[in-house]
Amino acid sequence: MTSRAVVTGVGHYLPKRIVPNSEFEATLDTTDEWIKSRSGIERRHFAAEGENTSDLATHAARAALADAGLEVTDIDAIILATSTSDLTFPSAATMVQASLGMTNGFAFDIQAVCAGFVYALSTANSMILSGQCRRVLVIGAETFSRIMDWSDRSTCVLFGDGAGALVLESQDGDGTSKDRGILATDLNSDGRHKDLLYVDGGISTQTTGYLRMQGNQVFRHAVEKLASTAETSLERAGLTADDVDWIVPHQANIRIIKGTAKKMGVGMDRVIVTVQDHGNTSAASIPLALSIGKARGQIKQGDLLVTEAIGGGLAWGSIVLRW
Ligand code: ACO
Repeated sequence: MTSRAVVTGVGHYLPKRIVPNSEFEATLDTTDEWIKSRSGIERRHFAAEGENTSDLATHAARAALADAGLEVTDIDAIILATSTSDLTFPSAATMVQASLGMTNGFAFDIQAVCAGFVYALSTANSMILSGQCRRVLVIGAETFSRIMDWSDRSTCVLFGDGAGALVLESQDGDGTSKDRGILATDLNSDGRHKDLLYVDGGISTQTTGYLRMQGNQVFRHAVEKLASTAETSLERAGLTADDVDWIVPHQANIRIIKGTAKKMGVGMDRVIVTVQDHGNTSAASIPLALSIGKARGQIKQGDLLVTEAIGGGLAWGSIVLRW
């Protein structure tokens, strides 16, 4: 008998305000056509004034708990992936804990930018496999609209706000790749690429700063590193790309998503795509795509999924799991 971390609930939340590409045409030298053709993005959601990352995360967490049929008292821990937490401290995860009325267990944030959810899922998996936790709420939530330079057309049209959450639960498997749950993980980072994607402010400088990105340089790394990490985790699970029912990629750019799928030899009919509706929601993008993929009837119990993401750091990684 092998312990496995199995997804038993999923949910998401998107702020009410939807901003179409055309809204940027009024203030920037850009067009709906440029944004769509270069990124695949058509619209994104922006949080309302006073609506913070922990608020988005709490909504998504409630939806995931309801989907799992669980109460907050059933959860041992909350891990929240975000680069846009409400305050410097305490963690957004402890704010979610309080909002949910959870007084047991523990909660903490993880920051690995767009790869944050993959890092959080991998950490939750380790805690479940070690016996430290039985059920973990894993959340990705962001308000990237708060770190946009609205005069920089090369970044501000690409990002959005949102949150997604999973309930991961310890279940017995037989140790084969037919088990439900997380089957393999792969995490990587290379800090030498810090200048390709960063925020030019922070606590030590007493500024919030704005996101800065050399988009075409990040693009160059993305397809190669994403296909390679997906291949590594599939190999660790004893599987190949032919076994994959769904790639659930980080939703940054449709051209990266297509390029990675092509490199892996997986058709686009086996890729969950939500980037057109949400833009890049950083650590929230994978749980959002999982939740929407399930709601659309695409992802079904027993399906083999590969999630992969890359972001600031550079940090990147992938997870193979059977839904
Ligand atoms: N509207 C019109 N023109 C624009 C816009 C815009 N919104 N933005 C940039 N341009 C111009 C540029 O100024 C440039 O003009 P020039 O040729 O006169 O200099 C031209 O368009 C081409 O710019 P590129 O940056 O080379 O365009 P590219 O095809 O690479 O697309 C994009 C840009 C969409 C940013 C792409 O490179 C990309 O998606 N990169 C990866 C982003 C990513 O995956 N990030 C990782 C995760 S994010 C995270 O971790 C927080």
